[in-house]
Amino acid sequence: MNINLYKICAILLIWGNAVTFSYAQKALQLKVETKNSLLVFTVGNNGKLYQSYLGQPLIHPDDQALLQAAKHEAYIGAGMGDLFEPAIRMVHADGNPSLDLIYAGHQTDKSDGTVTLTSITLKDPKYPVTVILHFAAYYKENVIKTWTEIKHQEKKAVMLSNYASSMLHFEASKYWLSQFDGDYMTEMRMKETQLTSGIKILDSKLGTRAHMYRAPAFFLSLNKPAEENTGELLAGTLAWSGNFQCSFEIDQQNSLRMINGMNPYASEYKLMPGKTFETPAFIFTYTNQGKGQASRNLHRWARKYNIPDGDQPRLTLLNNWEATHMDFNQEVLVDLFDGAKKLGVDLFLLDDGWFGNKYPRDADKTALGDWQVDQKKLPGGIGHLVKEAGNRGLKFGIWLEPEMVSPKSELYEQHPEWVLKLPNREESLSRNQLVLDLVNPKVQDFVFNTVNDLITQNPGIAFVKWDCNRMLTNTFSPFLKADQGNLFIDYTRSLYAVMERLRKKHPHLPIMLCAGGGGRVDYGGLKYFTEFWPSDNTDGLERVFIQWGYLNFFPSLTVSSHVTSMGKQSLKFRTDVAMMGKMGYDIRVNSMTPAEIQFSKAAVENYNRISKVIWFGDLYRLVSPYEENRAVLMYVDDAKDKAVLFNYLLNFRRKEFMGKVLLSGLDPEKKYQLKEINLLPDSPSTHPDNGKTFSGDYLMKVGLNLAPGKISPLSSSVFELNVQ
Ligand code: DGJ
Repeated sequence: MNINLYKICAILLIWGNAVTFSYAQKALQLKVETKNSLLVFTVGNNGKLYQSYLGQPLIHPDDQALLQAAKHEAYIGAGMGDLFEPAIRMVHADGNPSLDLIYAGHQTDKSDGTVTLTSITLKDPKYPVTVILHFAAYYKENVIKTWTEIKHQEKKAVMLSNYASSMLHFEASKYWLSQFDGDYMTEMRMKETQLTSGIKILDSKLGTRAHMYRAPAFFLSLNKPAEENTGELLAGTLAWSGNFQCSFEIDQQNSLRMINGMNPYASEYKLMPGKTFETPAFIFTYTNQGKGQASRNLHRWARKYNIPDGDQPRLTLLNNWEATHMDFNQEVLVDLFDGAKKLGVDLFLLDDGWFGNKYPRDADKTALGDWQVDQKKLPGGIGHLVKEAGNRGLKFGIWLEPEMVSPKSELYEQHPEWVLKLPNREESLSRNQLVLDLVNPKVQDFVFNTVNDLITQNPGIAFVKWDCNRMLTNTFSPFLKADQGNLFIDYTRSLYAVMERLRKKHPHLPIMLCAGGGGRVDYGGLKYFTEFWPSDNTDGLERVFIQWGYLNFFPSLTVSSHVTSMGKQSLKFRTDVAMMGKMGYDIRVNSMTPAEIQFSKAAVENYNRISKVIWFGDLYRLVSPYEENRAVLMYVDDAKDKAVLFNYLLNFRRKEFMGKVLLSGLDPEKKYQLKEINLLPDSPSTHPDNGKTFSGDYLMKVGLNLAPGKISPLSSSVFELNVQ
């Protein structure tokens, strides 16, 4: 019996029929499968693991054996002859820079009934190195989460300079990549290009606030560009809040090798014997039903498996940042509470500027690190604010930026050694601040205690906004000493370690993830945060695009969308835009007219009624603002009894023709009544179909004219659809 057959029999004994194999080909095959996708690995005669398929499920089990075996090695070690991008590169303790990975066994665990975890172990025959590839398959949601563990028992440390979370291979005729990039205030702009021979890299080297220029999320379309409802694609995203690298390399045979993981840039990692190096997860969904389906798969998965309290309601709120910046005192805030009460939101969120005594935080030059209430501005302390908010039926939330320090702060004076800074170089400031050396366990304790004490000592705090307003430039950790290559990776791991501790103590506290806008949005962070701040750009028109961008990968209940005074559009337009996500306000209610307050109060009431459909329903994008001068989208609840339709007319030109919009996701057999909501006080709907009842079939085949009569640019309408 050859070695592969021995292995097959051994595995058979242990795992029974969980293993798929074929004696005829004497090749062990492993399947990772969801309802609508299949990933197949084959162990070749040489003992190496190959990826033989990624695509739609095959109906005939026998067909699987026909899949080509020995072409694309699943997780390629550098130095062994393959000369394209490796998944892993290791320099052994003896200086040998090669890694040979041979299949050594696998396990399949279905214990929780909804997720199947397949773990494939690879070993180097000559060095005591083990690599385990993990694949968690979420059958119903059609999502696969994959990550890698690397460990060794060499005599001394090894150096790792590549460590992919995932390597996947494709054999399509053509490939298109949709990436999402931008900058501060211009987050998540979508661009689609055809990939050509060579390598395309989406990456970040920013350390903290790592996603300022680019999100670790993309669509990869196979053969032709996928549309909203058609086309074969993979939607992928890396769950990592630090430097990342997503690379797409087309070789001389037109095969595409896709590698996702932490960015190896300046991160040669020293791994000690016996320690496990675990990569972040790469999360992906494969579908042949277009980008809309891919987004819905990720949303459903995220709400169920990744986001804290993903199946629970969110709080509407009034934030004071755009209304006051740091220029406030107790009276001003209490006045704002009155405004929040008038709007009818759930919570008041106090932003930056509430702390610091020796160096009060009156501008962004001081006090980060000194997390004590500014006694001049707020003599009654947090307790007084919580009480005053409570008197108005409001919960209270607070802003923090715990990873940072101002050079002008008591913390900096007491602990200059807690700050990341390069020896023999000037400190490089960004927004007048520096980053704490979070890798240092003492700093982790400080950050944990700052947040934990604040929440524990003020039990009325019901919400935290966690900000991070700069990237890393002083990239040197006094704590790590000679192992500076570990810094970028260990920084993010340390952040997660702190969040893990906080979540253990406060599992249900809503925490908003913010990094000067959407500078840090990914599913690694969203394991701990309940929502995120997409952008400091709250202009209604810009927000249509920014929120549209994020909604491709993240569910609406995580996308904080506030009505502010930014932008030239009407209050109605800005309100309708905020409603497509997790709605809130950041506005001086005192400066609003009685009619505006009346409108906004009614809008909050409407939102409270329909928010369950928006948060937990399926998103259907109907008209993209990238294709027309309008954006139309809708949410449909699980039972297909309720839907909400958002229609935004953008900067269209005179006589621009806008066709009917076909709705999606409804039950063709059911009848729905269309009701326009969010109307201005005393203004009846002018939509000719308002109040009428249509079958789902009609709405999806004939559609609605959403630009009827006299329409103007930057106007909008929102409709509720209720089954009759
Ligand atoms: C950047 C955030 O994006 C804003 O919302 C606000 O919290 C400021 N920081 C405060 O400094």
